[in-house]
Amino acid sequence: MSEKIIIIGSSGAIGSAFVDFYKSQNPNNFIYSLSRSNPENDVENNKNFFIDFENETSISEAAAFCSSDGPFDKVIIATGILHQDEINPEKSYRGLQKNNMDKIFSINTFGPTIAARYFIPLLRKDEKSFLGLLSARVGSISDNKIGGWYSYRSSKAALNMIIKSLSIEVARNNKNLIIAGLHPGTVDSNLSSPFQSNVPDGKLFTPKYSVECLAKVIDNLEQKDSGNIFAWDGQKIDF
Ligand SMILES: NC(=O)c1ccc[n+]([C@@H]2O[C@H](COP(=O)([O-])OP(=O)(O)OC[C@H]3O[C@@H](n4cnc5c(N)ncnc54)[C@H](OP(=O)(O)O)[C@@H]3O)[C@@H](O)[C@H]2O)c1
Repeated sequence: MSEKIIIIGSSGAIGSAFVDFYKSQNPNNFIYSLSRSNPENDVENNKNFFIDFENETSISEAAAFCSSDGPFDKVIIATGILHQDEINPEKSYRGLQKNNMDKIFSINTFGPTIAARYFIPLLRKDEKSFLGLLSARVGSISDNKIGGWYSYRSSKAALNMIIKSLSIEVARNNKNLIIAGLHPGTVDSNLSSPFQSNVPDGKLFTPKYSVECLAKVIDNLEQKDSGNIFAWDGQKIDF
């Protein structure tokens, strides 16, 4: 059966792999690709629209653009930064800078949260639907054994709390909507590229492999799983 799916962050390694996966899974799937790149190659069941997480108006306009084709089966938010220009993950508290934290939280936490606010109403209520937000294992407080990466870790930990709270509230009026965080494993992408040298052999996934694994995880999720964070292998990650 064909599905209507929105991928936010479709220009990224994981976001574009999600677009490719769902296109190849069923050519009749209706896919909206949202990113800052906004390529002008719309066809009937594949549309593109601009979205910038640092501009709330662009988020509401993107949701308004999609809404006429709703309701949607899935929304996947695959945006995020770990480093950008002069910003790098902090090795020590001495490296903390407010401007850098503002940027990381703006894109990793506030952007997905505001996107959830505008896109949740577009998800179907009559059958199972799914909102997935790319999180990260390093956002788990109980899993934090080595410290560092203060802004990235805490932006994802805060996102995980948002996911939990959204799942509780939304279950009150849409029992078919599952909201979950997704950890893709370590995936070859712009985001991970400066940090790949310590990745053990066989543990650096292609975006295609990671997304094939995550798609299976998504298919197997049930309502009782809503509000939790799941890794590429289906393992639930403790907060
Ligand atoms: N790769 C990994 O090993 C790994 C591990 C754990 C978790 N994750 C998570 O997976 C997600 C995707 O990562 P990735 O590896 O696919 O990274 P990526 O290839 O660098 O993609 C990042 C995406 O975020 C988008 N983005 C950045 N700033 C934005 C903004 N202001 N507004 C809208 N979109 C913005 C980028 O869009 P532009 O093209 O416009 O910049 C791009 O689409 C992230 O949440 C990341 O934390 C990745």
